Amino acid sequence: MKQKSVYKCAICKKVIEILNPGAPETICCGQAMNLMEEKTADWKGEKHVPKITIEGNKVTVDVGVSMGTPHPMTEEHYIMWIELICKDNCYKRKFLKPGDEPKATFVVADIEVVGAREYCNLHGLWKS
Ligand SMILES: [Fe+2]
Repeated sequence: MKQKSVYKCAICKKVIEILNPGAPETICCGQAMNLMEEKTADWKGEKHVPKITIEGNKVTVDVGVSMGTPHPMTEEHYIMWIELICKDNCYKRKFLKPGDEPKATFVVADIEVVGAREYCNLHGLWKS
């Protein structure tokens, strides 16, 4: 278990993030929660991979929008949050809801971006 790892309960679908790693198991609904692996791929071939665009001090992270095929944002299937990872272990996150565009723009003081993550309620955690 490490800081910022994401776990999901297979029964109640609760999703949590670890801020301070502790004992190895995190229990929910009477059983160990599942670690959500950070999946990755080339964003051109996999719409779940967050695409980072930097313009001045604005960093936009989108899921499928740049490819012309935005990720679905329906009640059943949507991007729950988009996170920007900046240097010095600084994180910025936007929570989304069904009907929103699968995209987030962050204004940063230092555009030295390390990466981005997004979480799809059906397909899990993706990183670029
Ligand atoms: Fe998805």
